[in-house]
Amino acid sequence: MSTPLPPGTDSAPSEGMPPDVGLPDAEGLGTNVETDRALAGRPSPDERAREVEEQMTDDERFSLVISIMGHIPGSAVGGRDPRLPANLANMSAGYTPGVPRLGIPAIQSSDASMGITNPGYRPDDAGATAFPSLIALGSSFNPELVRAGGAAIGREARIRGFNVQLAGGCNLARDPRNGRNFEYFSEDPYLSAVLVAEQVNGIQSQGVVSTLKHYTLNCNETNRHWLDAVIDPDAHRESDLLAFQVAIERSQPGSIMSGYNKINGEYAGGNEHLLNEVLKGAWGYKGWVMSDWGATPDWEFALKGLDQESGAQADRMLWGKEPFTDDLKEAYAGGRLPKERLSDMVRRILRSLYAVGADRWGPPPDVDMAKQNEIALEGARQGIVLLKNDGVLPFPADRRMRIAVIGGYAQQGVISGTGSGAVAPVGGFAGFTQIGGAGVMGKHRNLFLFRPSPLDELKKALPVAQFDFDPGYTPAEAALTAKRSDVVIAFGIRIEGEGFDMADLSLPWGQDAVIDAVATANPNTVVVLETGNPVSMPWHDKVRAILQAWYPGQAGAQAIAEVLSGKVNPSGRLPITFPQSLAQTPRPELPGLGTPWGTPVTIEYNEGAEVGYRWFARTGEKPLYAFGHGRSYTSFDYTDFEAQGGDTLSASFTVTNTGQRRGADVPQLYLTHAPGEARMRLLGFERVTLEPGESRRVTLSADPRLLARFDGAAGRWRIDDGSYTAALAHAADAPVASRDVHLAGRAFGG
Ligand code: BGC
Repeated sequence: MSTPLPPGTDSAPSEGMPPDVGLPDAEGLGTNVETDRALAGRPSPDERAREVEEQMTDDERFSLVISIMGHIPGSAVGGRDPRLPANLANMSAGYTPGVPRLGIPAIQSSDASMGITNPGYRPDDAGATAFPSLIALGSSFNPELVRAGGAAIGREARIRGFNVQLAGGCNLARDPRNGRNFEYFSEDPYLSAVLVAEQVNGIQSQGVVSTLKHYTLNCNETNRHWLDAVIDPDAHRESDLLAFQVAIERSQPGSIMSGYNKINGEYAGGNEHLLNEVLKGAWGYKGWVMSDWGATPDWEFALKGLDQESGAQADRMLWGKEPFTDDLKEAYAGGRLPKERLSDMVRRILRSLYAVGADRWGPPPDVDMAKQNEIALEGARQGIVLLKNDGVLPFPADRRMRIAVIGGYAQQGVISGTGSGAVAPVGGFAGFTQIGGAGVMGKHRNLFLFRPSPLDELKKALPVAQFDFDPGYTPAEAALTAKRSDVVIAFGIRIEGEGFDMADLSLPWGQDAVIDAVATANPNTVVVLETGNPVSMPWHDKVRAILQAWYPGQAGAQAIAEVLSGKVNPSGRLPITFPQSLAQTPRPELPGLGTPWGTPVTIEYNEGAEVGYRWFARTGEKPLYAFGHGRSYTSFDYTDFEAQGGDTLSASFTVTNTGQRRGADVPQLYLTHAPGEARMRLLGFERVTLEPGESRRVTLSADPRLLARFDGAAGRWRIDDGSYTAALAHAADAPVASRDVHLAGRAFGG
């Protein structure tokens, strides 16, 4: 495709180290939604929902509890559904008719967490901002940045008429093979919760409902419709469910999307325990639960807590019926679906629309695409993790040197993850190739390239260097180019996405052999990785620096060039542990991998709550790179560490930039010991930007649930009386100092 540059991608880079967040305020960006103040004295969203629902006919009620997909050209679910209004132009993932006589707007939903997607639904849509993947934003450890990104996505949803954004990827990255880890923030419940809540807050600040998804344990893609995710229920509360619980408290997402998989034998969308008992019972969640697309095989899911069937045509394709249309009506007529439950389903939907103001939109906000790109750029900058650097980086911008850029389509663009979350940028992709694969998601696995290219951006950032590009077609050919250069920048890419788990941790298409060959030919080799997960790096010891750029979005090439040239000081920290090999992980073999689509699979998450770095702490294995790791071009020191006990654990310490450059650090506080056991938990973190020589005092106070065990029999969190050890650390494997505190024994919450 030959198309113009997306707006903003050719804008002048900002001077020097960018401020931590040179971003517009998430609020006050033309939401045109009446403010809470204007609504003071009016009924609450719940009261309004009850009043309006009481006036509805049963047909109107039933019309609200399903959503219909737009037509994806060539997809397995068939053509345009006749129930979609003929004049509906702004179609995306889901449509539910409104009830105009009662002022209820049609519900129109769009994917997803990295921008507004357009899988062929809206031919005249000029494209959206492609923001960085969530795992990249997870690496920023920066809630404010994520919130600004959420607001930016919310604005682009608003101008298209979407009032529900299917964002908020909240699953934990439990397995480095999971094809969708790039759509999730991290392996840690607290970090994930804090960040995803800010994405939801940002989106909802624009009058657009956001989901949190996929509830829950949707942590592998292999045969996801037939996957039973088995876990100890208490461990579940301390990990994946804790992420959802904390995120819900911090952001009140209008909707929760259930996953495709089963959890302990029951489908997520029909899981009485997780929906009725935990989510709506113990946590008092007020919004609505929507299914994933094609994840409602049975009307009885309505009794078990599901409020809306999504993508009804996908259910027809997979299960031969749309349970929330005819079956649900029959159940109601036969008295098997109580009237109160139908009313509850509808009220939950209405109250969430009212709570964010989705029924009170004024004129759409002005969206400045250059500013949107700045937010995407800042996300990419802060998301890049410098894994290794022996001093070769940054490259001095004034040095005349010959640089070989190798592989990874670096002459064309940066890659994206694939599946329902992939965003088509303004001006179209720089390149597009169908990769394909088995199952219904096969046609959605594509090589998508966002312009501008890393090669062009490197030429701008290093203006006196001379560049040679080699596509990395063969190791021998790439080595020839590497040999005649002063420095090599080798790109390693891996397309990961929805519907597929990776079979191992290698780079595809022989790239490991290419990188090995160029590093052998030229020891001054730097590697840039565009992947959605850790990779194994068999060439690791031969290269001088490694940059983990993830899927950095449309501004990724600029951010990569800025980090390599030192214009930006890298500040990302790993939100997921990089193992040395799969043998170190809880499941060296992934159950079901390689079985044909449709094969029932059981994955026992026997690691329980000990996910990622917690698992490594338990086994004593040394990872390739630990959770929280990330290098900088400056250095930081921690002093005067103090910790106090009581009802929870609080800590204070001083961070000092001891190097020569401005930079951002992410000091981390971990629990390392609880009474009677070693127990590793991230208790808190703070991103701090400091000038050379500058110091800042940081105080962190742990959410007490991170210090507790969940006692399922009592339905309470329990802190045992005794001594707890907290460590101040640069990363999960790099503690600097530790302190013991006493915590009073107590039970609390639910
Ligand atoms: C994905 C969801 C997505 C939905 C709608 C499903 O395949 O799992 O994350 O929101 O499609 O496109």
